[in-house]
Amino acid sequence: MATEPVDLTAADLHPALGDPALTSMNFLNEVSERYPAAVSLAAGRPYEEFFDLAAVHRHLDTFHRHLVDDLGHQPEQARRLLLQYGRTKGIVHHLIARNLAVDEGLTVDPEDVVVTVGCQEAMFLVLRALRAGPADVLLAVAPTYVGLTGAARLVDLPVWPVAGGPSGVDLADLAAQVRRARAAGLRPRACYVMPDFANPSGVSIDTAHRQRLLDLATQEDLLLLEDNPYGLFHSDDGPRPPTLKALDTGRRVVYLGSFAKTVLPGARVGYVVADQRVAGPDGRVGPLADQLAMIKSMVTVNTSPIAQAVIGGRLLEHGCSLVTANTRERSAYNRNLRHLVAGLARRFPDRPGVVRWTVPAGGFFVVVTVPFPVDDALLDRSARDYGVLWTPMAHFYDDTAPVCALRLSVSAVTPEQIDVGLDRLAALITDELTRRAG
Ligand SMILES: Cc1ncc(COP(=O)(O)O)c(C=O)c1O
Repeated sequence: MATEPVDLTAADLHPALGDPALTSMNFLNEVSERYPAAVSLAAGRPYEEFFDLAAVHRHLDTFHRHLVDDLGHQPEQARRLLLQYGRTKGIVHHLIARNLAVDEGLTVDPEDVVVTVGCQEAMFLVLRALRAGPADVLLAVAPTYVGLTGAARLVDLPVWPVAGGPSGVDLADLAAQVRRARAAGLRPRACYVMPDFANPSGVSIDTAHRQRLLDLATQEDLLLLEDNPYGLFHSDDGPRPPTLKALDTGRRVVYLGSFAKTVLPGARVGYVVADQRVAGPDGRVGPLADQLAMIKSMVTVNTSPIAQAVIGGRLLEHGCSLVTANTRERSAYNRNLRHLVAGLARRFPDRPGVVRWTVPAGGFFVVVTVPFPVDDALLDRSARDYGVLWTPMAHFYDDTAPVCALRLSVSAVTPEQIDVGLDRLAALITDELTRRAG
């Protein structure tokens, strides 16, 4: 047997490289590549029918005109801003601040914003900054977005799960984990939380509980990392609950934003609002955003100004409101969510309590609970023999305990594909129940 020449072994590289948190996304992508005919209720990607190449060119032009007409740049200066290396903290920070004012009623100083290469980079920068030494730990509501866990691994920051539960975050458990960590000589730096239609649980935190969470964070002197990629896709027409950041009067909340779901994932633009005041070694005080920018200057230098301009143009064309920019998207995702939940009810009418599912008030994700462990081998079989993909919930827990649940996503499919996918999923679950009963 021919053996490949080996120059390095994985054991000599960063230990995170073999960690399930880092291999999870690759595994899921590989499964979907191996079974291209399978219907994917796995991908949390936005709906591609709305992608519009012509609009990308228009957005660029809109932002370029904004630089000249509104901000008074000379044309060559504007061209340089779009095409040259640029400001580390970004060039659409003022529009992001305006967007947060229009859509979230938030007053943000644009200097407290860092525009990042997706929200993923924002998470990485914050975790890198917070991990000052080996005693530092991060708390995260479980189940947790795997991108957060992976980023934490890369900066050697242990993640301690906090129970989510029906309220979105179990405050008694959060307080207990903080105390447990401190008793062990550790320093909990922050708690990562997704108050709106969390990925993967779909659970949202109500306003009163958000306030209690902030009160607890203040009491325990803890930062909160609020990640909010799905908040705009709510299903009722009532007012959306305020973001944690909007309720935050004591600079407790670092706010993570993404334009992947509300504008374009391919632009790879996100941001972080980090208004916490940091005293530097020279005694000068500045926003945490400046420290994050320092890290960013050594990671991605600056976020592509061309990509930022596309986002900026889209914002400008909608009066900086992503709520108005996403009316079509929101109604499609809501329609799909209703369709999926109704489809589950139709397919499992005689199994109350055996097969259960969540009914989220928005977002992309529904969690289905079954009376058997759901693992990667079952996913592989589902793709191969039944032609349907979904995500094992085990990928969102940071341990190896069996998990009897799977995540379905409604974002990248049509109602017809949902019907086909659910028929196939129902066949898999029915066969699995029969096999286990016999
Ligand atoms: C909860 C959560 N945070 C962050 C991200 C990453 O966002 P971005 O594509 O902007 O890096 C995702 C992507 O799916 C997500 O679900």
